[in-house]
Amino acid sequence: MKEKKEEKIIKKEIIEAPKKTKETPQTLRGMKDILPMDQGYWWLVFDKARELANAYGFEKMDTPVLEEAALFARSVGKETDIVEKEMYIFDDYDGQKLALRPEATASIMRAYLNHGMWNLPQPIKVWYFGPMFRHERPQSGRYRQFNQFGFEILGEAGPVADAMIILLAYKFYEEMGVNTAIQINSLGCPVCREIYKNELLQYYKNNRSKICETCKKRMLKNPLRLLDCKEESCQPIKEAALQMIDFLCDECRAHFMSVLEYLDEIGIPYFLNHNLVRGLDYYTRTVFEVYSTGDENGGQTALGGGGRYDLLAEALGGRPTPSCGFAHGVERAVIKIKESSIVAPEAFKAEIFIAQLGEQARRRAFTLFEKFRSARIKVAEAFCRNSLRSQLEAADKLGARYSLIVGQKEVQDGSVIIRDMESGAQETIDFNKAVSEIQKKLLLN
Ligand code: HAM
Repeated sequence: MKEKKEEKIIKKEIIEAPKKTKETPQTLRGMKDILPMDQGYWWLVFDKARELANAYGFEKMDTPVLEEAALFARSVGKETDIVEKEMYIFDDYDGQKLALRPEATASIMRAYLNHGMWNLPQPIKVWYFGPMFRHERPQSGRYRQFNQFGFEILGEAGPVADAMIILLAYKFYEEMGVNTAIQINSLGCPVCREIYKNELLQYYKNNRSKICETCKKRMLKNPLRLLDCKEESCQPIKEAALQMIDFLCDECRAHFMSVLEYLDEIGIPYFLNHNLVRGLDYYTRTVFEVYSTGDENGGQTALGGGGRYDLLAEALGGRPTPSCGFAHGVERAVIKIKESSIVAPEAFKAEIFIAQLGEQARRRAFTLFEKFRSARIKVAEAFCRNSLRSQLEAADKLGARYSLIVGQKEVQDGSVIIRDMESGAQETIDFNKAVSEIQKKLLLN
């Protein structure tokens, strides 16, 4: 009875929001605990990413969470929001400036260069899954520590690589059962982009009196980001602005057309978004984002994004290495999966359950559990519970086909009771034959 009451209290504590007390430290703003009841969704995301990686020939690669801060200034860009305002940056004990990684593409390229991976047959196809850090204003789906999984193809210039990356980003959600569409644009190469940037600047100069203060700053620092402004008053100017696509040089145009043809051929729905510029400076040519269908104008709610970054290797002191990739936000994937009422599979389903009554029986049950484990039979227990009823309830919940019950009498007889959890029928057998009997029964099922 007492036990039941305790169980109820524990459940209530988990479901209700934790009470803040002065004594108990809390998670930092924008950081989140991932509780056991949510882990099923995380496994679902990880397993799907891994399945796709295996199917398309990507190998896993892990890089450290801490890097030299300069890595991101040289890749993501000194004047991006990510590096300028959001990066967790600090001096190490020896005075070196370090940063918690805000993204992983720069680290993947650093590792590629550090390990001379250009000597291997190209392209190098890798994927990753792990935490990133950005000091953003937290809201639903936007955190300061969040996780991404990403896919990168290093050392391939052809549009087929862009198409494969976009296909993977799309397939993840399609195979999860979530409808998404791709927004796509081309940012050209430094040559054609420079011409476009100057024209865009001239246009904004002509409209300077009508734009917000942030845009005025962007004109000086990062003109392409003018197209990213969400301010109501700037929208008419933005909508009427010149489009990058009209300035692409012949090579960049042919590349972009070819990527779109691949997407058409394989039936991936996409929309051209002339204002898509992305918040990272390393992109050249193709850029894209993935949105849940109906959520395309959702501002901050991109489920994932990526593109081509042909000049990143050189920016980090390496040889030319045309590359492209994408990353999906895991928290956003989990939110979307839950919204779509997709059920995460039980992390563990038991075949049999071992129940016990009394201290001696518990010891006997403890050894029995190990016998089943060694025989690779999926076995569960609730050794901390005393009541048989509550143990059988746990067995039911875990989906066990049979429960093995050891009580005082069974300890003395050297026996064990097998209970069929469907019919409720029970039989007593020799303790030493428990594993072989269960193996036979499971084979018959
Ligand atoms: P990103 O667009 O900055 O790209 O991030 C990719 C995804 O990470 C976003 O679409 C979103 O789902 C998730 N994300 C970003 N910030 C947050 C946040 N504060 N809270 C929760 N989720 C967030 C990149 O990071 C590039 N490295 C992608 C890439 C790979 N480009 C080429 N290869």
